[in-house]
Amino acid sequence: MLTKEKIIDEQRQGEALVLTENPSNGKKMYIESYGCQMNFSDSEIVASILAKEGFESTKDYKSSDLILLNTCSIREKAEQTVRTRLRSFNSLKKNNPNLLIGVLGCMAERMKESLLEQEKLVDLVVGPDAYRDLPSLIKKVEGGQKSVNVLLSREETYADISPVRLGNNGVSAFISIMRGCDNMCSFCVVPFTRGRERSRNPLSIVAEAKDLLNKGYKEVTLLGQNVDSYRWNISKKGEIIDSNTPTTNFAQLLELVAKVSPELRVRFSTSHPKDMTDDVVISMSKYENICNYIHLPVQSGNSNVLKRMNRGYSREWYMNRINSIRQIIPDCGISTDIITGFCNETDQEHQDTLSLLKWAEFDNAYMFFYSERPKTLAERKFEDDVPLAIKKQRLNDVIEAQRINSLLNNNKSIGKTYKVLIEGFSKKSKEMFCGRTTRNAMVVFPKESFNPGQYVNVKIEDCTVGTLIGKVV
Ligand code: 5AD
Ligand code: SF4
Repeated sequence: MLTKEKIIDEQRQGEALVLTENPSNGKKMYIESYGCQMNFSDSEIVASILAKEGFESTKDYKSSDLILLNTCSIREKAEQTVRTRLRSFNSLKKNNPNLLIGVLGCMAERMKESLLEQEKLVDLVVGPDAYRDLPSLIKKVEGGQKSVNVLLSREETYADISPVRLGNNGVSAFISIMRGCDNMCSFCVVPFTRGRERSRNPLSIVAEAKDLLNKGYKEVTLLGQNVDSYRWNISKKGEIIDSNTPTTNFAQLLELVAKVSPELRVRFSTSHPKDMTDDVVISMSKYENICNYIHLPVQSGNSNVLKRMNRGYSREWYMNRINSIRQIIPDCGISTDIITGFCNETDQEHQDTLSLLKWAEFDNAYMFFYSERPKTLAERKFEDDVPLAIKKQRLNDVIEAQRINSLLNNNKSIGKTYKVLIEGFSKKSKEMFCGRTTRNAMVVFPKESFNPGQYVNVKIEDCTVGTLIGKVV
């Protein structure tokens, strides 16, 4: 429960979130983001920090004075893409010698000085916890020095910074609720690039949600690498830190944000099967505006592989979690992540992933073949011994199995009517709008005289693997 003092505090936090107009310094910045939603959300924090310095955001990199790439290291291919992009941006320096190029995010953290010294591709390298330092780092570069800050923090959550909402639809927005990850899944580079897990003050989260609602937004997605381990004023061992401050776990945070307004939809990502408790699902079931959708990455359907991945749960545990979710919320949408061809994965272990995928009937899945990352536990402990061709074959198998799941799920929706929040034009036609159901299914329908941000009831008449097609009723 919130005390009276806390509510006043909350209102103050709300005021702090109002963006004031900043005088221009005559310079333009262009930010390009790669990877997870967290990176896109961080770019909005960066834009806010630099807007206060007078930088104006632009979508045209050719006319900008500062190009920033917010990068991802999760797979090798993501890093290759960034390198190619950096080379192409570097060629702009011929005509614009004052152009500054910076790398932010996970790749900055992983490569550190080597991006400046060995590859000579950038002027500025800034890790995910050092964005407040950007203004002074930029001044240093302008003074002719190369500058780097890749210090990781145990406290930084950027709680007081109101993100500048970049290139979004004005309907849905991200709110970062925590940073970093303490899990050490053996394949994952994130704990090395984003540092230790820390949660953000719940009052500043609620204030940001209220601010978004006041600006016309209708949906917020609470972001964290592992939202189920969100905790405020609770130690890792579960003890209360300060007896004068209320404690907040993730289930409680969800309810606090849901109470902001029944008109504001609440989503969250990502959940971890080992930490996701029934009380989160119960909170979801209590509020109509908390969407019935959980992204619950399984990674593999075989318990031995899960052990090598250091995921902290077995196949049976995961199946129990799914059963429990469906018991509490029978029509809950569930999606997952899968990695094929992890170290020593046998064909039988791969078959277990396929059988789990079929059993779970996921609404959606994000599927990847394993890419070894430097410094991770898997790199140090196991041999990356599944040949690339087999990794790719197994990836095709899971994609095909999921395609059947998606089609089955979408076919079941035909004839039903869903409440949809209109996000904007569909990709293919300006005559059609698109939006999502509570289960996160994408729906396309004739736009008639509706507007983005409105809720409409759509009757489903047809579907493809990725989309439901219908009409407003
Ligand atoms: N190789 C392939 N996929 C990976 N992921 C994380 N690390 C790797 C890796 N080294 C996937 C996981 C995770 C998602 C965000 O990316 O499935 O859930
Ligand atoms: Fe990586 Fe595992 Fe943390 Fe997710 S939970 S960011 S996969 S270490």
